[in-house]
Amino acid sequence: MPRPDAVTVRAAAKVNLELIVGPRDDATGYHELATVFQAVNLHDDVTLRPAPDYSLTVSGRGADQVPTDATNLAWRAALAVAQEHEGAGPVAIEIVKDIPVAGGMAGGSADAAAALVAADALWGAHLDRATTQAIAARLGADVPFSVLGGTAVGTGRGDELVPALARGSYHWVFAFSDEGLSTPRVFAELDRLRAERGEQVARPEISQDLMAALLAGDEVAVGRALRNDLQEAAISLQPRLAETLEVGAECGALGGVVSGSGPTVAFLARDNEQALDIAVALTASGVAQDVRRATGPAAGARVIHPGKEQ
Ligand code: C5P
Repeated sequence: MPRPDAVTVRAAAKVNLELIVGPRDDATGYHELATVFQAVNLHDDVTLRPAPDYSLTVSGRGADQVPTDATNLAWRAALAVAQEHEGAGPVAIEIVKDIPVAGGMAGGSADAAAALVAADALWGAHLDRATTQAIAARLGADVPFSVLGGTAVGTGRGDELVPALARGSYHWVFAFSDEGLSTPRVFAELDRLRAERGEQVARPEISQDLMAALLAGDEVAVGRALRNDLQEAAISLQPRLAETLEVGAECGALGGVVSGSGPTVAFLARDNEQALDIAVALTASGVAQDVRRATGPAAGARVIHPGKEQ
């Protein structure tokens, strides 16, 4: 088959239905996690074209906050494929963002996952699953999930994945904040709060209630089981997030939780109609800079054909 001139890959944002943070490993600085990810249909699209040199452009939501040099995870992903596959070379990378930057929804990880899958397809590398996942994990803890999509349990750094037995479709409302939160800062704040309390941190474990709720497709029980250990740290750094959570609770959302390391707040709604009500209330209250609805689970990073997609 002739090599395509360009490949576009779409990758989804994620929300953590549960994020349990264990002790910090002093050797690596990483925390042991037990988490349940769900991909939602809020996307970034990444296009790769063969070029004489590497380059990167970004447009869309928060584009001005994204680095356009070799530090960008998408650039590093394309380089990693070139190191693995002899026939691969430099690419011009074009990112169209809809996932908020530094929002706790794995926007940077989605771009890395998309670039990884796009480079593989562009150069016909056919990297096996294990190699793809190993490259993904090196790029960042959330990148393997961004490749996989769906609903999955993550352990280790969050990069050891098992697809979750999950039924049903979930209606989400996301409240975005203009001011991003840095993931390392939020983890560090949690460590500080825990040390202040003299807390003994247990090994993280996923709750059986959440797994049973997902298996049954019981969105009310999923709403009740939403939990994020990083939430108190995110609120400590951005106290306004507590008000955002309050607005969703007043609307009768099935549950509300800070997404990942924040500052995005995710609300689970009963159906599309309630999602719309929550979105309207959040917008009217002025607590969030932007509000979006989405459904999950969504697919992992996959090749699309621009113009033919919805
Ligand atoms: O792997 P990634 O670069 O996405 O992680 C960003 C930061 O988040 C890490 O440098 C670390 O401070 C923190 N982190 C952590 N434990 C994890 C995942 C991330 O402490 N399991």
